[in-house]
Amino acid sequence: MRVLKILAAFAILLVLGAGIFVAYAWRSAIDPVDPPAQTSFDRALVARGADLAAIGNCNVCHTAPGREPFGGGLGIQTPFGTIYSTNITPDPETGIGRWSEAAFIRSMREGVDREGRHLYPAFPYDHYTLVSDEDNRALYAFLMTRTAASSTPPENELPFPFNLRMLLAGWKALYFREGPFQPDPIRSEEWNRGNYLTEGLSHCGACHTPRNRLGAEKKDEYFAGAEVENWTVYPINGNSPAPVPWNADSLTFYLRHGWHEHHGASRGSMAPVTANLGSIPEADVKAIAVYVSDVMGRPSQERIARGEAASAAARKESEAPLTVRATSTGNRVGEAIFLSACQGCHDGRRPVPFGGLNLHLSSAVNASNAQNIINVTLFGLPAARGEPSAIMPAYRGVLNQDQLVSLLDYMRERFSDQPAWTDTRERVAATMNGEREVPIYRMDGTTQAPPETSMRTTSWP
Ligand code: HEC
Ligand code: HEC
Ligand code: HEC
Repeated sequence: MRVLKILAAFAILLVLGAGIFVAYAWRSAIDPVDPPAQTSFDRALVARGADLAAIGNCNVCHTAPGREPFGGGLGIQTPFGTIYSTNITPDPETGIGRWSEAAFIRSMREGVDREGRHLYPAFPYDHYTLVSDEDNRALYAFLMTRTAASSTPPENELPFPFNLRMLLAGWKALYFREGPFQPDPIRSEEWNRGNYLTEGLSHCGACHTPRNRLGAEKKDEYFAGAEVENWTVYPINGNSPAPVPWNADSLTFYLRHGWHEHHGASRGSMAPVTANLGSIPEADVKAIAVYVSDVMGRPSQERIARGEAASAAARKESEAPLTVRATSTGNRVGEAIFLSACQGCHDGRRPVPFGGLNLHLSSAVNASNAQNIINVTLFGLPAARGEPSAIMPAYRGVLNQDQLVSLLDYMRERFSDQPAWTDTRERVAATMNGEREVPIYRMDGTTQAPPETSMRTTSWP
């Protein structure tokens, strides 16, 4: 009897608990509206919305390669499965044409769609929640005045239980803090503007901060670097691997132009970020740079000295007579490949981004692993569309695994004062056999604003 009673009490608790959870998780639908006329939106508001959309990289995820701008359907790989971006054009059937402004603002602030379903945080609303109502109105005006595209994304590929959207309410209870942004009255206006943009629309931490097992950013490892879609995202805090320490000026230039003379070009999934930031007012980029350089902190004397030594070594090589120069690493295979295939562009005689960076200055060579060098060496840097840009040939099919490993070991030894990498062979093998799928981006944006189309290429050059 007693056991039965306990069981009954337990069952009641369970039902009650489930009921409370459902009540907690439930969100009401917001009524559909007739798509607002495009002419009903103020032109200045639309223009501001365009800048905000560029800061938020809406095009990067919502435009699939070769498809209509903002038509969705790009598969975002997560450790839990593939989540497809949605159509955010004003198409009334397949896009957000029937969403009211209130429904749009709620999706950005709370991560809930018009019908009340919880959205996956692959849509970075954990950052967008900070966006002000005013900025959300401009974004809405911008999106509602795009060309409608009729396009439905594929079904998400998520195994049970990750396919249950209701459970996202639990994730939100654990990790999601609703905005909007609150400025810090002690800091300057520029710093606060930078904090607002960096944490909010720009969502830099979505790539630069490592995530826990449930996919939430680890707040105590802020900007500590991570790996996203098989590109290594460097730390942009005190542990930055850049030989020459970053500062607000070099960050402003890099974020706006996609390269810097002491740091090289932005590649991989960072390339569309800098291409977008090249199209917005400079003051906003500078505010981001001021905030991020504050997170990086003032470099120590030792760090400054390291940067000076790297610059001196690079300068010496770029001024040395043009003779093939053997080094002392004893890695003859790596050396022969580097001197014949790479040195000609990377000795630093021609300025970046059209000439290669002298690799004494490269974050890639000083990073915790060789993944980004593996990616650029195998797949190259594909030229931008319709503008001059940095390019680098692809060596896929030219170098075999052993040769690439020797080349990487040689570069690490010659150009960095860091210990040898230990996982290079595994990374080379997994990248060459396709187990690590690497999205490749064109080098748009160093000389003009990027289009709304995708910079992602589906094939290798
Ligand atoms: C990192 C990738 C990424 C970025 C950047 C991104 N989105 Fe999304 N977005 C997604 C994904 C994935 C979904 C679908 C989520 C789901 O199905 O739960 C989505 C869903 C949405 C939705 C819900 C639409 C619907 O039909 O349910 C809206 C609205 C939206 N995004 C707007 C934006 C805006 C505006 C921006 C730029 C400020 C933006 N997104 C940037 C990935 C992204
Ligand atoms: C979609 C993922 C993604 C987002 C979002 C992103 N980054 Fe990056 N970032 C990367 C990757 C990948 C790299 C490495 C690129 C390379 O090898 O050139 C990188 C590199 C950088 C570098 C160069 C570091 C170095 O030492 O060379 C800086 C600085 C940087 N990011 C700042 C930012 C800032 C500021 C933001 C927000 C405005 C941001 N990133 C948003 C992926 C991202
Ligand atoms: C035709 C000229 C050319 C050749 C040949 C070339 N590169 Fe590059 N490479 C570039 C350009 C241009 C860039 C973009 C500017 C930059 O960041 O260095 C680049 C970028 C890089 C970067 C990123 C540097 C950074 O941190 O920003 C690495 C690493 C690299 N190349 C390695 C190699 C290796 C290894 C080889 C030989 C197998 C090679 N490159 C051959 C032109 C070349």
